[in-house]
Amino acid sequence: MQLIHSLDPLRSAVETLRADGTLALVPTMGALHDGHLTLVREARSRAARVAVSIFVNPLQFGANEDLDAYPRQMERDCALLEAEGVDLVWAPDVATMYPQGFATSISVSDVSEGLCGASRPGHFDGVATVVCKLFNQVMPDIALFGEKDWQQLAVIRRMARDLDLTRPSADAIIGVATRRDADGLAMSSRNAYLIPQERAQAASLPSAMQAAVTAIESGDDVAEVLAQLERSLLASGFSSIDYAELRDASSLAPLEIRSHAPMRLLVAARIGKARLIDNMAVAP
Ligand code: PAJ
Repeated sequence: MQLIHSLDPLRSAVETLRADGTLALVPTMGALHDGHLTLVREARSRAARVAVSIFVNPLQFGANEDLDAYPRQMERDCALLEAEGVDLVWAPDVATMYPQGFATSISVSDVSEGLCGASRPGHFDGVATVVCKLFNQVMPDIALFGEKDWQQLAVIRRMARDLDLTRPSADAIIGVATRRDADGLAMSSRNAYLIPQERAQAASLPSAMQAAVTAIESGDDVAEVLAQLERSLLASGFSSIDYAELRDASSLAPLEIRSHAPMRLLVAARIGKARLIDNMAVAP
């Protein structure tokens, strides 16, 4: 496995890998857990060569967010990736990704509005900008992203289509189902911020969401179900709810009543020092 930190060697390495067949990219911010490794395994099964990027992207963190506290564990991450048979780890530093005078931003409207776009202003511009750069740097045939970050996946799909970053005929942006701990909590690098009591309380997020999904699918009033979901999270130890919304699964259009097309329930809520997000499918 090659560990590369600068652009010229990256270009040469990528040229060689691309000659061997399909190249997959799995973008990450490191502090890898089994959720990330699921993406890597899916990449392995779909492509001859797999590149993983590790870059804690300052552009996608707000001024009062956890950029400095975000866990960094490069050596451990590389050992995990080597064991998964990854071919290349791309780990640029901030000055390589954003050289002095960097002045360009990619902004995807529509799908990035509301939800995390409202509670984290500028976040999706930062995500889109770095993912566009990663695509240009690594030039993958396919790229894999987790459904855990449903809105992020929608933003990246839209950007890739709008800017012709991938082959239109190929299903090049691949979404992978959320990997969960045994109690249902979605795996996240930010779960490390939780003390044991908060970690136990956090399991109420997926269970309350599952109850809401069942209620909406059985025809209960959507507004009432969402209000009950918020009350139940606050009663279980969450300190505040950024949003709890029902949206169209692909356009992300807000829904006040049940729709005849696939829907998604999306929640962001705070507990202790962590802001946790999750989303689940709601069948028409
Ligand atoms: P990060 O949070 O490190 O996540 C990297 C990838 O792993 C994302 O596609 C995310 O959706 C996926 N992922 C995280 N937890 C998961 C889980 N429990 N199950 C399945 N997939 C999971 O998302 C980012 O980094 C950044 O925004 C990035 C896309 C790298 C741009 O900086």
